[in-house]
Amino acid sequence: MEPSQVAIIGSGLIGRSWAMVFAAGGFKVKLYDIAQQQLTSALENIRKQMKELEESGFLKGALTAEQQLALISICTDLKAAVEGATFIQECTPENLELKRKIFGQLDLIVGDNVILSSSTSCLLPSKLFTGLKHVKQCIVSHPVNPPYFVPLVEIVPHPETDPSTTERTYALMKKIGQSPVKLNREIEGFVLNRLQYAVISESWRLVGEGVISPTDLDLVMSDGLGMRYAFIGPLETMHLNAEGISNYCERYREGMRHVLNTFGPVPEFSGEIEQKVNQAMSEKIPVVPKILDARRKWRDECLTGLAKMKTQMKSE
Ligand code: NAI
Repeated sequence: MEPSQVAIIGSGLIGRSWAMVFAAGGFKVKLYDIAQQQLTSALENIRKQMKELEESGFLKGALTAEQQLALISICTDLKAAVEGATFIQECTPENLELKRKIFGQLDLIVGDNVILSSSTSCLLPSKLFTGLKHVKQCIVSHPVNPPYFVPLVEIVPHPETDPSTTERTYALMKKIGQSPVKLNREIEGFVLNRLQYAVISESWRLVGEGVISPTDLDLVMSDGLGMRYAFIGPLETMHLNAEGISNYCERYREGMRHVLNTFGPVPEFSGEIEQKVNQAMSEKIPVVPKILDARRKWRDECLTGLAKMKTQMKSE
């Protein structure tokens, strides 16, 4: 049987990673970009990554790197790129006008059965898709960078998205090994960034008020909270840290409310505190492309190891 086909619009950081995720799932992938050079380098980069992953035993999916590479083709013609695709994942820069233009173009050339999905990190579906003829088939599938190693995908519908679009997208994400979650309605920042910004803003206040150093603050997460958050979420943490949620609330509701009432206002993320955090981070990891890249590579290796461990723990 011919493998199902998807189109990826935009071959940057996220587009490349989606292409690898879909190819690992056995899908034929057409990678589209306006710049031929960008496509050529995307393909080279994907080849290199797949080979390295294969050598280290971390390549996803049942196919070899060569077999997966054979599933990916590149294309600078939008119509040809989406021809035959059942799912289109848009991965162009985070710019509302640009994305609206692209979805407007896609709206004119797609049929009634294809799903139009955006990788946007923070543009609301109502901003992106309103007015499109195929709005029922439109959805946001927000990945986490890098999607190849971090499986979560936030699925966010437009108010007019057909429930079957949400269900099909959810099932597809599961099929390719990602970990989808459904938002029942759109909200600024979706869920992941709302949680992330809550953590970032309290981190910023604590460092700004001189309670803790920037590097120690990060350790609180990486060697503290983060250890369990890789396996259980904050709600299950409550459940397990007492005899269930109700018992936790009974024990800690007052304390939590007391501490939460001492939280400060939304930070400016500028000025002296910015300089202080920047200095500490830059001492640890100088802002030099080579050093940043090496640190990102190390991070990805850690995430790969963690992903593997999580799979093993699940099957035990
Ligand atoms: P990027 O800048 O690495 O890649 C964008 C690509 O789109 C480039 O290859 C560019 O040539 C191409 N492009 C520009 N105009 C185009 C057009 N008219 N048609 C087709 N392709 C075009 O950006 P990145 O980081 O891959 O982000 C893509 C999307 O994914 C954004 O919406 C971003 O918010 C979202 N996202 C990014 C994450 C990240 O950490 N980088 C995480 C989650 C989502």
